[in-house]
Amino acid sequence: MNTVAVIGLSWGDEGKGKIVDLLSEKADVVARYQGGTNAGHTVYYKGKPFSLHLIPSGIFNKNTICVIGNGCVVDLKSLEEEILLLKKEGLDVDRRLFISNRAHITFPFHIDEDQRIEEKKGEQKLGTTIRGVGPTYRDKYARIGIRVVDLFHPDDFRKLLELNLKTKKGMLKKLSINSIIEEYHSIAQKLEECFIDTVQFLNDEIDKDKRVLFEGAQGTLLDVDLGTYPYVTSSHPTIGGICSGTGVPGSKIKRVIGVAKAYATRVGKGPFPTEFEMDFESHFRKDAKEFGATTGRPRKCGWFDAVGIRYACMVNGVTSVVITKLDCLSGVDKIKVCVDYKTKDSRKLLSFPADAKKLSVVKPVYEEFTGWKGDIRGIKELRKLPKEALAYISALEKILRKEIVVVSTGPIRDETIVKGRIW
Ligand code: GDP
Ligand code: IMO
Ligand code: MG
Repeated sequence: MNTVAVIGLSWGDEGKGKIVDLLSEKADVVARYQGGTNAGHTVYYKGKPFSLHLIPSGIFNKNTICVIGNGCVVDLKSLEEEILLLKKEGLDVDRRLFISNRAHITFPFHIDEDQRIEEKKGEQKLGTTIRGVGPTYRDKYARIGIRVVDLFHPDDFRKLLELNLKTKKGMLKKLSINSIIEEYHSIAQKLEECFIDTVQFLNDEIDKDKRVLFEGAQGTLLDVDLGTYPYVTSSHPTIGGICSGTGVPGSKIKRVIGVAKAYATRVGKGPFPTEFEMDFESHFRKDAKEFGATTGRPRKCGWFDAVGIRYACMVNGVTSVVITKLDCLSGVDKIKVCVDYKTKDSRKLLSFPADAKKLSVVKPVYEEFTGWKGDIRGIKELRKLPKEALAYISALEKILRKEIVVVSTGPIRDETIVKGRIW
């Protein structure tokens, strides 16, 4: 079997897009398995950054087939825009992009609901991306969702829409079912060739010994079950999400690559134990360009949190790690890594807290490392890194007890040090 999962180890934005683009040079298929347009995966193509929300980051490799699995929620209007954007760049997407006919659809009314729920929560809002992702998954689990297959049965589609909207106060009256049906009928016609049974397709490809890569969106600590609930997304970015979100069994996933930045970031609300001091954070954020790829919001920045990352390695069965954005730490005098959490009364926590409140009051225990001065952006060979940067990477390997197979030194595909086995 030639399969690799690429999974974010913290709160998203770890640089998965760049890494999936790099690894998919050798992949036959790249499949997303969860999330929707809340994802923002940045890939540089011909020197320009692209922020992909739904289309897998393998799309820039012309021989790679891209799949949006059944566990994703698809905003078809936004998907059409994304396809157009890529076509404008001369990329051939036809017969290279397939969408599961089992995937649930995000409609504009889901986006309105996301916005309204956030407004109603006031102070307790989560800071969602307002892409309608939570409400689409809520409908899926309430069994009033509408799937891609339903678009091709007009009578059923109408009935399902009516049923869905009936459960939402005032919505049935407010929206014109006829115009939704008309609009989605036309989208379905345009995308018809993309809709397939991706469960069968992916399993067949794996059985033919093709190289299949699973691209996680968000990150482990945003997982609805395993993350910092309720400050999470509504899906399963962790390894189990691959099985339910593509129909590929765990026994067919050979390698699990966890992606983490050389420091930590978080966007939206929720505890973030290793956050930098305010002054340093705002300088750092600007230099490291830590602003959301989907919403443009400033990301909170902090020190590498080995407690969270070790937990993420455990729950995903990570076999090796990729460290991104090492170049962004250049010029930092003393680099800290959080190796343990302590309680207020100095007791060491033995596991990653289930309770977000508890996590918000832990005291990080730091180890310190000497920083390096020069610019390391674009370095491609390990031996060319300053000795302090090398020491930092090997310290992370020891602290995580994992091999680091790739170190990323810039946002462009070849600004990368490959130091271990991937495929
Ligand atoms: P994703 O959601 O995990 O794919 O990550 P995002 O694309 O949202 O955020 C990562 C950001 O860091 C993007 O702007 C990338 O272009 C950028 N990036 C990725 N790897 C590196 C790196 O090694 N160095 C630098 N400077 N930027 C990087
Ligand atoms: P990628 O794939 C970082 C965060 C939001 C919010 C919470 C819930 O680019 O790593 P949602 O819209 O999912 O209901 O919002 O999750 N969030 C992300 N943070 N990267 C992402 O995706 C995210 N997708 C959602 O900021 O806190
Ligand atoms: Mg992102």
